[in-house]
Order: sequence, then structure tokens, then C-alpha cells
Amino acid sequence: MIADDLLDLAPVIPVVVLDDAEAAVPLARALVEGGLPVIEVTLRTPSALAAITRIAAEVPDAVVGAGTVVRPEDAERSAAAGAKFLVSPGCTARLQAAMVATGLPFLPGVATASEAIALLEDGITAMKFFPAEAAGGTAYLKSLGGPLPQIRFCPTGGISPRNAEEYLALKNVGCVGGSWLTPVDAVRDGDWNLVRELAAEAAALR
Ligand code: 3PG
Repeated sequence: MIADDLLDLAPVIPVVVLDDAEAAVPLARALVEGGLPVIEVTLRTPSALAAITRIAAEVPDAVVGAGTVVRPEDAERSAAAGAKFLVSPGCTARLQAAMVATGLPFLPGVATASEAIALLEDGITAMKFFPAEAAGGTAYLKSLGGPLPQIRFCPTGGISPRNAEEYLALKNVGCVGGSWLTPVDAVRDGDWNLVRELAAEAAALR
């Protein structure tokens, strides 16, 4: 799979922060059952890599990746843990090289035309737009599409059911990412019915 295909698997990529790797499998099952098979587990907690390993091993219908990849070693460790893709909030030459070296599809983060053009020079046409709402939202992203129509984005950051459809209506948006599918309380309490319902609502978008 190449990164461009990743954008077509589901309209929404849940961005997950997991404090407890025990929750990883039931959470991933709820998301998959709701219709969202692509899951980004952020490397913001000590249990993130273990969570990725469990989901990769025990939820075969999930496509689990690592998010918040900011150091070259994050890319290597995520690949070793079983991640199927990588997502970074921004990109540097070193980080890009480390992500390429894993052989995994990856969505490097950009927020400006220059950052996008730098990646385009290396043949990268699928990117994360971050932080989507704070950087200018749909108006900004639509404007980037004028001179750079060959790039497709996964905007993330400040996206919710309130504005997701506006993003998904843009020609240069493949899918959106967000943390609203996995509310902190629901994950803590193991309320997988709620996660499944939120996923089902999101899967019906577009
Ligand atoms: C992230 O990578 O943290 C995403 O931007 C999540 O953003 P959200 O919490 O605003 O959905």
C-alpha cells in the first residue's frame, strides 16, 4: 500500500491516545466494527508501541499506524512494533529519510505551501495538514489546492463532526483525522459501544 491509498480506506482516521495497552484491542475492534479500519495510535504515551503491537496481532481487519512520529527512532520503533503506516505532525529531512527507510507508507505533516512543495520535490503527494483549524481551516486548504492540485491531504487538528463534512467536501482532502472518536472518559471506562457509535457516524460521512 502507498500513502495515497491510505487516504481512501475510510473518511476518518481516528487519532488515539492510549494510556493503557490493555484497552488497545477492544478499542480497535469497536472502531473497525463501526466502519473505521484505519487507526492512528499516537506515540504520546509509554504504552503506545505495545498498543500498536497488540492491535496488529489481534485485530486483523484494522490498519494500525503510529502517529506523533517526530524523531527518526520513532519511525524505526513503530515499524518494529508492527505499525502499517506512519504519521508525523511536521517533517524534516532526517525524519523523512527515517520514514522512507521503514518502507511503510507515511503521511508527513505540513502547514505551508513551501513545506508541501519540498515534499512534492521528492515525489510525495499524500500529506497530513496540521494543525488544520489553527492553520487556516478549509479556506486555507482550498487555497493550497489552486497551485498544488496534485497533493491530497488528511487534515487533522480541531476537526469534529461539526466541521468534518466541510473538509471532506474539498477536492484535495482524501480523509480527515481526529481524536473525537475516542473520548478520554469512554476509553478509560471501556465504553466501547459509544466508540462504535461514534465510528459508525463518522464512517457515514461523505
Ligand atoms: C493530533 O495529531 O493530535 C491530531 O491533530 C488530533 O487533533 P484533535 O484532537 O484536534 O482531533
